[in-house]
Amino acid sequence: MAESITITDNRSGEAIEIPIVDGGVSAAEWAKLLPGVWFYDPAFMTTAVTESAITWIDGDAGKLEYRGYPIEQLAERSTFLEVAYLLLNGELPTAKQLEDWVHEITYHTFIHENVRKRFLEGFHYDAHPMGILVSAVAALSTFYPEAKDIYTPAIRYKQIVRLIAKMPTLAAAAHRFSVGMPFIYPDNSLSFPANFLSMMWKTAEPHYEADPALVRAIDLLFILHADHEQNCSTTAMRVVGSSHADPYSSCAAATAALYGPLHGGANEAVIRMLMEIGSLENVPDFVRSVKEGKGRLNGFGHRVYKNYDPRAKIVREIAEKVFQVTGKNPLLDIALKLEELALADDYFVSRKLYPNVDFFTGLIYQAMGFPMEMFPVLFAIPRTSGWLAHWTEMLDQGSKIARPRQLYTGSPRRDYVPVSER
Ligand code: ACO
Repeated sequence: MAESITITDNRSGEAIEIPIVDGGVSAAEWAKLLPGVWFYDPAFMTTAVTESAITWIDGDAGKLEYRGYPIEQLAERSTFLEVAYLLLNGELPTAKQLEDWVHEITYHTFIHENVRKRFLEGFHYDAHPMGILVSAVAALSTFYPEAKDIYTPAIRYKQIVRLIAKMPTLAAAAHRFSVGMPFIYPDNSLSFPANFLSMMWKTAEPHYEADPALVRAIDLLFILHADHEQNCSTTAMRVVGSSHADPYSSCAAATAALYGPLHGGANEAVIRMLMEIGSLENVPDFVRSVKEGKGRLNGFGHRVYKNYDPRAKIVREIAEKVFQVTGKNPLLDIALKLEELALADDYFVSRKLYPNVDFFTGLIYQAMGFPMEMFPVLFAIPRTSGWLAHWTEMLDQGSKIARPRQLYTGSPRRDYVPVSER
């Protein structure tokens, strides 16, 4: 069987055969036969925007791999910083490479005093931490003007290190500011996740070290959120980066995309849904109302996964370990009942609606004390490594500026009418 398709232009009878390569057909080939006829594909539902060697997803089987390594193995045996290195460089680091990488990240966690004093403190007292983060990441570009030089390897690498290292500092600063707590400087004696928790929760103690189970849980959640191929925020990173904007400006755009409730805010929607359901006996009625089309079961369903999201399975295990330390989130029982009823119900089964990564993450974050506004911020910290991996890959591919076409449906040409005659 030929691995190709044939397209015939019925207006002229001309045909063209296009090979199917890596599961796709070249639009450039299509354009040879049909110049000026565009694919109509809002939301890029059937468009592959790039070749990529970073992350692989099999949505039907519920599989996820970073650089060929199954997410389950990375979650069991790796750390977030090692995974970030893997995403960016394509290979797991040697012991020396890992040591150098961790050292570099650890020693770039501080932010310029002006970012904190002049910039962050200028926000209104109740500013949303994600709004602060978007702006703070963009502001970093003004502190590192050399970042515009995106094709000098040493300069590019320096900005990658800075972004990954400073994201937790900015994230924690955004939280502390929004709850009126003083800023906590990074502690270079701590690991990446432990340092983040110290900057979040430290009060009067000279040295803060979170419970090791919580440190590991945060590191694992960072691994699970590090990349997810061409999602909305990664696409924003690529589109802005394709104009050769500096990486801080591109990352700010990606962070802004993650701010939206359809992307980084779904776990907050899960918590709000569970609070609205309120108690176990209301769960069957809630499921019934979803089936009648009155709202959705938040944390269920995914554009790509038509099976149990492999990350959701791991998150479920993390939840159990976290609750041993923090005590059980009282909303857990409602979540488990919802899951049980939905997975046994033909409405959800026939539509291949399974729990996604967000179904349980909010419960964990809430039990650890994070306010709901911080949920998308917690997502942005690790996803920065994925955004930067895709940005680097795109630049190394010599990609062109992103510039889609449209199908114009507006008015035909007409003449201007003076306001007095309208
Ligand atoms: N609850 C109930 N029904 C649902 C749900 C849900 N969560 N998700 C999809 N459906 C139904 C739709 O009503 C539709 O039914 P129909 O065929 O009878 O009309 C069918 O399943 C297909 O749904 P679509 O909206 O076409 O699926 P799409 O791929 O566009 O949406 C999405 C995916 C947005 C994730 C959707 O499943 C959803 O809204 N889920 C809830 C929100 C959520 O959890 N988002 C987080 C996603 S993970 C992430 O971004 C990190």
